[in-house]
Amino acid sequence: MQDIFVPPGGPPQGAPPPREIYGVLGEEGIRALLLAHYKKLAESNIAFLFPDEPEALEAAANKSADFFIQLLGGPPLFVQKHGPPRMRARHMPFEVTESGRQEWLRCFQEALDAQSFPDQYRAAFDEFLDSFSAWMVNSRSSDLGQGYRR
Ligand code: HEM
Repeated sequence: MQDIFVPPGGPPQGAPPPREIYGVLGEEGIRALLLAHYKKLAESNIAFLFPDEPEALEAAANKSADFFIQLLGGPPLFVQKHGPPRMRARHMPFEVTESGRQEWLRCFQEALDAQSFPDQYRAAFDEFLDSFSAWMVNSRSSDLGQGYRR
């Protein structure tokens, strides 16, 4: 069985991102941001982790958007539709390595640059993505190829 990597930093300690972000972007803006992110993921070197078919990719982007809408100050759509967040546990079926995390962050940064995210909240959101994503890492980079693939 594959060893599970536990990030030494433990669960994220930082503040959540400012809830004013929802007021600026709204539900549609956040869905557009996550769709842009997932389209970049589909072209990235971690594309093997994500659905191939466009409809399934869009559904996955919308599920992630439900989480970000809730996180950024909108209605609690993720909990209502999908239950408790348990984000690290939800990522366990997938091989998330540190190098995969860097690629995931690069895709998110490119999506943020393209989607006119409000400048005044960008640093706080970047900080959230960096610290929270570290807690999703569950495999050592050298394990790449031994875990679950779609
Ligand atoms: C800030 C950090 C992250 C957040 C908030 C986040 C959020 C989410 C959410 C809400 C889901 C849907 C969960 C479900 O199926 O119920 C998801 C799925 C997934 N995430 Fe993440 N994620 C993060 C980081 C990462 C990283 C670093 C990777 C890989 C390098 C990753 C890969 C995946 C994969 C493969 C799935 C399943 C496919 C899909 O349905 O999108 N995530 N993520």
